Amino acid sequence: MNANIMNVDYSTKIPNNVNLSQDRQVLKALEGWHPGYMNWWGDMGPEGFQQSLVYLRTAYSVDPRGWAKFDYVKMPDYRWGILLAPQEENRVIPFGQHYGEPAWQEVPGEHRAMLRRLIVIQGDTEPASVEQQRHLGKTAPSLYDLRNLFQVNVEEGRHLWAMVYLLQKYFGRDGREEADDLLRRRSGDADSPRMLGAFNEATPDWLSFFMFTYFTDRDGKMQLHSLAQSGFDPLSRTCRFMLTEEAHHMFVGETGISRIVQRTCEAMRSAGINDPSDMAKVRALGVIDLPTIQKKLNLHYTLSLDLFGSEVSTNAANAFNAGVKGRYHETQIKDDHRLQDDTYPVLKLVNGQIKRVDEPALTALNMRLRDDYTQDCIKGLLRWNKIISLAGYDFKLTLPNVAFHRQIGEFKDIHATPDGVLIDDATWNKRKSEWLPSAGDGDFVASLMTPVTEIGSYASWISPPKVGIDNKPGDFEYVKIET
Ligand SMILES: [Fe+2]
Ligand SMILES: [Fe+2]
Repeated sequence: MNANIMNVDYSTKIPNNVNLSQDRQVLKALEGWHPGYMNWWGDMGPEGFQQSLVYLRTAYSVDPRGWAKFDYVKMPDYRWGILLAPQEENRVIPFGQHYGEPAWQEVPGEHRAMLRRLIVIQGDTEPASVEQQRHLGKTAPSLYDLRNLFQVNVEEGRHLWAMVYLLQKYFGRDGREEADDLLRRRSGDADSPRMLGAFNEATPDWLSFFMFTYFTDRDGKMQLHSLAQSGFDPLSRTCRFMLTEEAHHMFVGETGISRIVQRTCEAMRSAGINDPSDMAKVRALGVIDLPTIQKKLNLHYTLSLDLFGSEVSTNAANAFNAGVKGRYHETQIKDDHRLQDDTYPVLKLVNGQIKRVDEPALTALNMRLRDDYTQDCIKGLLRWNKIISLAGYDFKLTLPNVAFHRQIGEFKDIHATPDGVLIDDATWNKRKSEWLPSAGDGDFVASLMTPVTEIGSYASWISPPKVGIDNKPGDFEYVKIET
């Protein structure tokens, strides 16, 4: 392994471990893009706090044994850099029609359009989430949480840089145009929205933020894992390092929801409430009732399922055949990695019923990745439910049926309950507020969102974390707020 790839060069304006100082043309292109990025950060990045000192980690290496350094940084001074995981020697394409051939160090002409499209779609999600979360700073439940929000935001900014580097280095003029467009689209904008549905939804409160980082960032994890398998080696290496950072985002989501559930259970116990579904009584305690948590979960899980696309997809088959996008943990799967004659069970609507149908494994790759995603989601639910049962409550958070509340794929034209019972439009309209957050639920959660900025203090509706960031104590000043 090349030793100098491990450490990041901070002498150029754009920190990097891709030898940009020797790659004048790409360095110039990135420096040309930089002011537009800073303008975007100013306009669409976190609202306020730009002069605050935030205790952030910055990557100084891509060595998995130690890659981050923590220090106080003003967000606009964060060093957004280009970091690729070290090149694996003699790496081969691990799937598809080019199986076993050497991985590509340049873009293969025949797969250029497909690669560019996948990079642009991934790139578009990164700034979108920053835009969605930009208002949350002013209602943070603690300095610890405020710091975590900003850590996620600056790293999503870095992920945008990662995709822009690939576009500018490997895709010439149209890559540069795509890089500019990534700064032009805006989450939720009527005229030029972000490319994927879930990234145009609002993130109105901190419960939504934690659900987003748990469920939607986890879709990102699955996509990055599949792209990390890519035969296009620079994309693979880029995604491998992004996954290192992404783990923290999902940690923020999982522990955020754990802490909310914990606090709700404690408050119910000390008030002597035995029925967690007695929403009025629970809400009067200033904590978020479990049924409302379930509704937010239903919303964010289903929006995230839509990100996987149609269950049966020739695009997915083509990307796999081409060696461009693989499966989750591709190299660990024991099969021929070509899937020419295999099948995979897909949930479909057949004569008005939800049925498992065997489809060619190649066209069912979205379904497979979504199944892997669901398995990954369940782990958090087990932890949250353990908190509830340890508190002595008979209540379980669950993932809704895949037919529930879908806008993409097999079930987009029907309505179903979270248990997967098909229902007509009238029933749906009458009952949907039992399953998805209503305006009233939103207002209640919003009423709790008052900022807590004293060192070591936490809002009434969330428990303190078990451990601090970078082993800091609970009363550490994670953000030095400058007003
Ligand atoms: Fe990201
Ligand atoms: Fe993320």
